[in-house]
Amino acid sequence: MKLTVNLGDNSYPIYIDRGILPRAGEYVSQFFHGKRIMIISDDNVFPLYGQTLTDSLAESGYECHSLVLPHGEPTKSFDSLPGIYAALLQAKMTRSDLVVALGGGVIGDLAGFAAASFLRGVKLLQIPTSLLAQVDSSVGGKVAVDLPQGKNLVGAFFHPKMVLIDPDVLDTLPAHFISDGMGEVIKYGCIKDAELFRTLCAHTSFEDLKSDLVSIIARCVDIKRVVVEADQFDTGERMLLNFGHTLAHTLEQYYHYERESHGEAVGIGMYHITKISEGMGLTAPGCAEQIRHALEIYGLPVSCGLPVESLIEAITLDKKNLNGKLNVVLLREIGDSYVYPTDVSFFKDAGVI
Ligand SMILES: NC(=O)c1ccc[n+]([C@@H]2O[C@H](COP(=O)([O-])OP(=O)(O)OC[C@H]3O[C@@H](n4cnc5c(N)ncnc54)[C@H](O)[C@@H]3O)[C@@H](O)[C@H]2O)c1
Repeated sequence: MKLTVNLGDNSYPIYIDRGILPRAGEYVSQFFHGKRIMIISDDNVFPLYGQTLTDSLAESGYECHSLVLPHGEPTKSFDSLPGIYAALLQAKMTRSDLVVALGGGVIGDLAGFAAASFLRGVKLLQIPTSLLAQVDSSVGGKVAVDLPQGKNLVGAFFHPKMVLIDPDVLDTLPAHFISDGMGEVIKYGCIKDAELFRTLCAHTSFEDLKSDLVSIIARCVDIKRVVVEADQFDTGERMLLNFGHTLAHTLEQYYHYERESHGEAVGIGMYHITKISEGMGLTAPGCAEQIRHALEIYGLPVSCGLPVESLIEAITLDKKNLNGKLNVVLLREIGDSYVYPTDVSFFKDAGVI
């Protein structure tokens, strides 16, 4: 299945199909006529898929190099960049060569930022291997690294030349990260697609949903594609993708990113913000219960037992809380979302989150 992100000169195709990875060379030769490729990956993903990818690229005549980094968020650090640039220089990469990000969102964001900045930008191919990266981070052109002061503080908008999504690689993704990605999949249903939401609720688990996986991933990518096309630089419509994220970010910060994963925090955020907005008559009754049901099917929590007062200060300090004004994303009903301008008092009667 092919989708195209239409951004004028920056347009690029996204291919989604089982078994794409072993045929990556065929796809790459559609747009890349240079010689050298640097595959950047992590030490979980490369041992599983590095050889298959390298063989396919070599068969298509490319000279392949690889750089394998430790897995996990600490690798997405500003401090990782000099090592990456050194590896690119040692491989004699030029501006006409290609960087391939093979991994989850950490590798996609990091290798993407390295590609955006090395020699003022070299071509980038995203091969996302986690569910979160397949449905979210590999599409949209946001690349970034973390600073000790916070996540994603140094970054760029830099689009890949192509995205290759092979759902088969999810067979080796640990269950915890599947649930994490399902938080974002449920979010897409909530904000834009009631039918997707119904499909998710018609299954009993991720295993059960696998028969529909290609079309579900494609649906999510397509929603992100449309939103990104409408708002490439994240100044308007793209905000809808932040449904559940105001509470999620503050929850993650409160626990120093050591307790709830991002998907879990987003699930908790989506459920509670909808409960609040239903109570205020801003959302159709019953939506919060439907979200709770969907989260439970995919093993995501709906609560973390924290009184909302503990989060109010963090929400007040959040960078998206501008001059006391706060835009939150709410649902009119499942599949229909909107931005609601308010302030931090919106959360004051939420009770225990
Ligand atoms: N750029 C964006 O628009 C955007 C959007 C959302 C999130 N993000 C970023 O994405 C990052 C999180 O991404 P993530 O959840 O993919 O984390 P991740 O890259 O750390 O991957 C999760 C774990 O799964 C492993 N893994 C990945 N694919 C695998 C596979 N097929 N088989 C076995 N193991 C596999 C990884 O080694 C890692 O241990 C965060 O840094 C976040 O800021 C970026």
